[in-house]
Amino acid sequence: MNRKEFLRYGCNTCLMGALAMLAPALPGCSPAYSVFKTEAHDNQLNVPLTMFEKTNTLFVRPKGWQYDIAVHKNEDGQYLALLLQCTHMDNQLTPSQNGYLCSLHGSRFNSQGEVLKGPAETNLKKYTTTINNHNLIISI
Ligand code: FES
Repeated sequence: MNRKEFLRYGCNTCLMGALAMLAPALPGCSPAYSVFKTEAHDNQLNVPLTMFEKTNTLFVRPKGWQYDIAVHKNEDGQYLALLLQCTHMDNQLTPSQNGYLCSLHGSRFNSQGEVLKGPAETNLKKYTTTINNHNLIISI
């Protein structure tokens, strides 16, 4: 391999590595998450159950709130609602492959909201959910 081939190979390898690292941040390359915008009434959020026909995880975005609520429909049909507010210093969490990640200091939480990695020491806030007719009710 001559110098020119070495440089070309090296640059292509670096480019592929950089693309692999950046791909999740590029629009259209990251997993699609459904967001449902709503307003709270009487300390409750109503989410139509039809929103879970195509996905098991929905991000509920209450009007005026700084944080989303991740609602996951488990295999047993139960729903888990987690506030995506880091319990370390209140940063908005982002979904990761197996849970949620805080970009500020690196805390990680699993899909059940339990701390996997600090500095956060407290699990995510969970909200009680009930089903009423064709709606999921999140008590806030
Ligand atoms: S605010 Fe999330 S780890 Fe510090």
